[in-house]
Amino acid sequence: MRAMTRADVDAVLAIEQAVQRFPWTRGNFTDALDSGYLCRVDEAENGGIRGYAILMPAADDAELLNIGVSRAEQRKGLGRAMLAEMLTAVRARNMRRVFLEVRPSNAAAIALYRSAGFGEISVRHGYYQNASGSEDALVMAHEVCKMTGESNG
Ligand SMILES: CC(C)(COP(=O)(O)OP(=O)(O)OC[C@H]1O[C@@H](n2cnc3c(N)ncnc32)[C@H](O)[C@@H]1OP(=O)(O)O)[C@@H](O)C(=O)NCCC(=O)NCCS
Repeated sequence: MRAMTRADVDAVLAIEQAVQRFPWTRGNFTDALDSGYLCRVDEAENGGIRGYAILMPAADDAELLNIGVSRAEQRKGLGRAMLAEMLTAVRARNMRRVFLEVRPSNAAAIALYRSAGFGEISVRHGYYQNASGSEDALVMAHEVCKMTGESNG
């Protein structure tokens, strides 16, 4: 994976609109870039973007805000590989935990997160708005590492 740039936003947005039921807007992606979030893309050898992931670092924790894989590249291990790379980046920054919110109806994403070591910690009722009202969010977390220099006892 490499850092996402503004030049990637068209390609990323095209994937987002094709694979997400409630896609981010162009502004969401440019805001994430402008805010200095960890924005990464996976690029094929021919230069096409296959996937992307966005992580918002906080002090000790980070939140995975978005991850997507183009329809044609799904179920080939790319989502798992990108998530692993994001977790490595979190570990390298000495952050302790990664949180994320996911729709309970998003079985593919939940299965991916569970297989990467995320566990469910709570439910946010009515967190997502959609055409038929609202949907809860499942909050998941992954303990990544202990801070260096932390006392053991
Ligand atoms: C979620 C997503 C990123 C997974 O990417 P992917 O590259 O297809 O995932 P992988 O091939 O690495 O699969 C990893 C694991 O996730 C789970 N998984 C992925 N797709 C799945 C599906 N359609 N149904 C059930 N489980 C699925 C499986 O446990 C899979 O492991 P396995 O193939 O060994 O069974 C992809 O489906 C996607 O882009 N979805 C739309 C966007 C989205 O919902 N993002 C998350 C919320 S922001």
